Amino acid sequence: MLEIAKNVSLLDHNTLGVTAQTYAYSAIDSDGALRDALQYAEQHGLPSLVLGGGSNIVLSDDFPGLVIHMRQRGISASTIDGGVALRVAAGENWDALLRYCLDQGWYGLENLIAIPGSVGAAPVQNIGAYGVELSQCLAWVEGWDRRLGERRRLSAEQCQLAYRDSIFKGALRDQFIITEVGLHLRHRAQANTEYPALRQFLIEHGESPEEVHPRVVAQAVAAIRAAKLPDLHAEPNAGSFFKNPLVSADAATQLLIDFPEMAHWPMPDGQVKLAAAWLVDQCGWKGRRLGPVGVHPKQAIVLVNYQQGRGEDILALADAIIGDVAQRFGVQLAIEPRVY
Ligand code: EPU
Repeated sequence: MLEIAKNVSLLDHNTLGVTAQTYAYSAIDSDGALRDALQYAEQHGLPSLVLGGGSNIVLSDDFPGLVIHMRQRGISASTIDGGVALRVAAGENWDALLRYCLDQGWYGLENLIAIPGSVGAAPVQNIGAYGVELSQCLAWVEGWDRRLGERRRLSAEQCQLAYRDSIFKGALRDQFIITEVGLHLRHRAQANTEYPALRQFLIEHGESPEEVHPRVVAQAVAAIRAAKLPDLHAEPNAGSFFKNPLVSADAATQLLIDFPEMAHWPMPDGQVKLAAAWLVDQCGWKGRRLGPVGVHPKQAIVLVNYQQGRGEDILALADAIIGDVAQRFGVQLAIEPRVY
């Protein structure tokens, strides 16, 4: 039986702590409920917004439609060669899933520990941190295709995962609703410790990066994150607010003449990735406030909603930062969370 609530506050459903309301809200715990909710939205001419953990969205205003809150639960596992194939419902919490996997001795995603949000949201932006991306363990995604009006499975390749990007942000945006995610994990306890800051942390704590157990890597990543990123409950935020921009090799060479200390990483395709945090920091934004919102004093691409600002306050701050970075470096920053 579909339950629809009216005029619901979304304050507790977005980690940026934006005070916005939705005209209608429904918590979904099955495929049937999802279909009923979509039908309800269509019959009443309402736009719909699919919500997971709310850790990667900016609500720019009150929402005049139906919020579909994905709450389906369930994890099942089957053995595959050298590891395990997992089928995980979209409403499971990402961090809790990773802790469960570590307890079971299933490895490969431990560097992505402590990322807020739901499992169903993870493929949308191909979550990545400390040298690992979801794409390295994603097998498939299942969900409801609104245009075709049917459930279908996309292979990992069809998801077109790239740096903080996927087909769910592009061609299938607002069309494909992820209900389940398939993951392949390993039994072999071999950790990925390539990421320089992670390596350094392990060495400083007496661990050998070549031999360290994935469980220790998870603890290290959680500790690094806790030291650098603000606590979502005390200082509402949406993680990195800007993507690290990619520029051409020529543009990077030119910039390095003027800014030899600029953080940069050459990519396999010849482009160069710049650190959005460095660019914003150089423009003097770190720790600065604009009205009720501001830039975190320890991480220049984390925007914090200090005093119950609205989405428009956050977006005004983002615009001011984007403008300054464009003027000083000629580099265009892109907003990472989804804006509604
Ligand atoms: N830096 C500054 N000023 C700052 C912070 C950083 O100059 O205030 C410089 C650092 O010196 C470093 C560079 O910027 O050279 C990159 O900083 P950092 O290592 O903190 O990583 P990041 O690029 O800002 C990315 C992800 C994070 C992820 C970390 C670790 C993006 C947009 N962000 O941050 O992901 O946890 O790497 O892998 O790619 C997220 O997506 O929400 C997120 C937190």
